Amino acid sequence: MGVSAQTDEVPKNNPYTAASDVERGARLFAANCAPCHGPKGNGGRGANLARPRLPRADDDKALFLVIRDGILNTEMPGAWGMTDHEMWQTAAFVHTLGRVGPEQVPGDPIAGAAVLRSKGCIRCHTIGTEGGRMGPPLTEIGDRRSATYLKSLLLDPPSFLPEDFSMVEVVTTAGHRVTGIVLNEDTYSIQVRDLTGDLHSFWKQELTTLEKHADRTPMPSFRGQLSDRELEDLVAYLVSLRRAQ
Ligand code: HEC
Ligand code: HEC
Repeated sequence: MGVSAQTDEVPKNNPYTAASDVERGARLFAANCAPCHGPKGNGGRGANLARPRLPRADDDKALFLVIRDGILNTEMPGAWGMTDHEMWQTAAFVHTLGRVGPEQVPGDPIAGAAVLRSKGCIRCHTIGTEGGRMGPPLTEIGDRRSATYLKSLLLDPPSFLPEDFSMVEVVTTAGHRVTGIVLNEDTYSIQVRDLTGDLHSFWKQELTTLEKHADRTPMPSFRGQLSDRELEDLVAYLVSLRRAQ
């Protein structure tokens, strides 16, 4: 006994997940982790923790061990100054970062799945293994976004532009025109995914036009395209798309 590095004594599930634990965890996180992981956990010198799935800490126990022992040969240190209790509280807070809790939403998710199909969302978004790749995958969207967020986004996409999507229109010297989102760009070249999901790569010197529209998005607004009922059902469906537990 007394060998704290033993892993099989660590409980599988976090024993401290009450609201007061999460609150205390938030303060511990701000003091110990935020310098590297950012105040909201979305990364900096340390990894982005505000994601539904942490590859190095995929369950409670693994998360606890990462916090306690650090990750060998990386900048992620072990938290020597904290008690087990405090580490679990920090873990409880980390757990909330990339996840929005299950919400009670009024719509019917099954009807919502049908709305999604009829509105062509699948053309641009993957759900599971099906769908287009123009927009981000929605497979686990319910873990990342709240119902309120999703509802507003469907009505007014430009207000929710993620930083890593930039819409662009290019015309080549040969007169070929492509509209899409920027995947990569450097001084000499640009890679664009068009609205059908196809990839294009251009040398900038072969373009006559390269217009960026940071304020525009290929994500269409569905304002006026959905009844209140359809919108509610669709949001209920999106919220239900979660990582299998
Ligand atoms: C000195 C900077 C630093 C501090 C302080 C720090 N981390 Fe990290 N952390 C890192 C780095 C860098 C990585 C990525 C390591 C790698 O995999 O290369 C990381 C990785 C992680 C991971 C794994 C993420 C994944 O992708 O699976 C978790 C979880 C984590 N840190 C939690 C914490 C918590 C909680 C604290 C506070 C108790 C903390 N870290 C403090 C730098 C730091
Ligand atoms: C023409 C392609 C296209 C269609 C059709 C489309 N989307 Fe999108 N959607 C996008 C793109 C591209 C983004 C991300 C970039 C952006 O916002 O500019 C996006 C973003 C989103 C996001 C935010 C994802 C996140 O990670 O925050 C959600 C949710 C979403 N779309 C749902 C839908 C739903 C539901 C429908 C159908 C009612 C739909 N989209 C139809 C292209 C499309």
